[in-house]
Amino acid sequence: VNADLELKEEILKLKKELNAVILAHYYQESEIQDIADFVGDSLELAKQAKATNADVIVFAGVHFMAETAKILNPNKLVLIPDLEASCSLAEGCPPNEFKKFREAHPYHIAITYINCSAEVKALSDIICTSSNAEKIINQIPADKPILFSPDKNLGKYLIKKTGRNMLLWEGSCIVHETFSERKILELKVRYPEAKLIAHPECEEPVLMHADFIGSTSKLLKFIQEDDSKIYIVATETGIIHQMKKARPEKNFIPAPPQDESCSCNECPYMKLNTMEKVYLCMKNRFPEIRMDEELRLRALKPIERMLEMS
Ligand code: 13P
Ligand code: SF4
Repeated sequence: VNADLELKEEILKLKKELNAVILAHYYQESEIQDIADFVGDSLELAKQAKATNADVIVFAGVHFMAETAKILNPNKLVLIPDLEASCSLAEGCPPNEFKKFREAHPYHIAITYINCSAEVKALSDIICTSSNAEKIINQIPADKPILFSPDKNLGKYLIKKTGRNMLLWEGSCIVHETFSERKILELKVRYPEAKLIAHPECEEPVLMHADFIGSTSKLLKFIQEDDSKIYIVATETGIIHQMKKARPEKNFIPAPPQDESCSCNECPYMKLNTMEKVYLCMKNRFPEIRMDEELRLRALKPIERMLEMS
C-alpha cells in the first residue's frame, strides 16, 4: 500500500514538473483511471487531446489513441507507457493491404474507425469512433458508396442502423469477439431483471440480445439514467470501475467469455500499461510518439473531418 501511494505521489509530482496532462481510456486498470486528469472514450480523448494546453500528454491507452493525440498536437511531447500497446483492429489492417482495398474501389468513400494506424488514417477520407459513426454515415449522400474499415462487427451493426449498404474490411476486436452468447443467455435466465448492455464491436448474436448498444461512454451514461439494478456488461471489464463509482448501489456482471479460464474480456494491449510504466514514461520522457510530418498532415485531414461532422 505504501509503495502504491509513493508511486502515485511521484506521478503527481512529475505531472507538475512536466506540466503534463494524463489522459486515460476506460479500459485502463482502475489505479490509472483514478490518477488521470481525464477518463473517456476514444472520441472524448481525441477532443481532450486537441483542447489541452499542457506541454506534455501522457496517454494511458493504446498506440492508435496516443498517435491521434500526436497528430492533433505536433508540438507537444506525447508519452505512452508501453509502445507495444497495440490493438487487434489496427494490427489486422496493414496500410499496404488497405491501400489495395481502396484502389479496388476507387469510387467509394472510405470511412475508417479510429482503431487503426496513422498510415491507414492517411489513406482514409473520414475517421469515426463508435460514438459518432452513425451520425457521420448519415451525412454521406445516399448515392455515394462507402467502404467501412476495419471492424466488420461495428460495420454490420452500422449497416443495420443506417440502412446503408457498406463494403466491410474483415477485421475484429479480439476482446469483443470473445463473449459467449450461450453463457449470456444463461445469465439472463438466472437474473431475469438484468439488462444486457453491449459495445457495437461485439458480434451480431450478442448484439441481438442487447437492451442497449453504445460506445464506452454511452454505456456509462446509460446505466446512470436507466432504472434497472443489474446489468450484464458486454465490453472490456475496465469500464465497470467507472460504473461502480457512478452507481455504487447497482450490480454489474462482466459478460462471460467462451473460455472462462482465460481473462479474455480484458484487453491484453490496454492492460500492458501499469502505474509503474506511467511513472517511468514520465520520468524518462520516453517512450514518446514520433511521426513524420508529411504523414501527420495526411492523417490529420480525415480526423478533422470527423471532428467537424460529429
Ligand atoms: P470507445 O471507448 O470509443 O467506445 O472504444 C472502445 C475500444 O475498443 C477502444 O479501443
Ligand atoms: Fe483494440 Fe479491442 Fe483492445 Fe479496443 S478492446 S484496444 S478494439 S483490441
